[in-house]
Amino acid sequence: MAYRKKIVAGNWKMNKSATEARVLVADILMEIKKFDASDIVICPPFTSLAAISELINEVPNIRLGAQNLHQQSNGAFTGEISAGMLRDLYCRYVIVGHSERRQYYKETDELIKEKAKAALDANLKPIVCIGETLAEREANDWKKVITRQVDNGIAGIDEKQIEDLIIAYEPVWAIGTGKNATPEQAQEVHHFIRGLIAKHYSSAIASKIRIQYGGSVKPDNAKQLLHQPDIDGALVGGASLDARAFAAIVLASRH
Ligand code: 13P
Repeated sequence: MAYRKKIVAGNWKMNKSATEARVLVADILMEIKKFDASDIVICPPFTSLAAISELINEVPNIRLGAQNLHQQSNGAFTGEISAGMLRDLYCRYVIVGHSERRQYYKETDELIKEKAKAALDANLKPIVCIGETLAEREANDWKKVITRQVDNGIAGIDEKQIEDLIIAYEPVWAIGTGKNATPEQAQEVHHFIRGLIAKHYSSAIASKIRIQYGGSVKPDNAKQLLHQPDIDGALVGGASLDARAFAAIVLASRH
């Protein structure tokens, strides 16, 4: 089996001003400066990217990520931000197709694929989010939903670029609810996703793609989740706003 370095990303969502962000990042750096076993990504709002970029510039293993981007490289798109603008601030990652964007901003699988491609073309690693809602899980439809999201939102991306793409499985019913998927439930879906990637590309590629779990990851459930064979990291919401909790999750991700 290919070695996959764990990746723990903090999605701050719409929290923290630039001033507050500086304080939180300073705290995170104090907590995690010794942890170098996993890739660590901080995804603040756009308005804090420049400030954080300066703070983590020299720190190995901690990288900057954005929470969204526009699929075009420039033009008359008021209020939007392009991949090139993110690269210019030394972003290395960008979250694409988070369920909140799918739900509130009506982002489709097709748009998400365009955004992922725009990110890859600019040398940004997209973290593409997929996951079923509670109703879909209860109707036992999760395989259908995940298959559709992978078929339409990921498959078709150039084989030369696909290994830089990260998938985040975030069951919508587990986001911000305190109700995480059990490690077994999450592992089952992650394994299924890897199978879909193998079908579209190859087993060799599938074994290299990193698949994060997201949804109420906390220090007390991180270790069990992160040590499942197909779970390669975490996309952390609420707990990433607390330096100690985030550091504990990073620590739990060690192989
Ligand atoms: P919570 O960790 O707050 O459940 O959020 C998960 C998430 O949406 C990360 O992108």
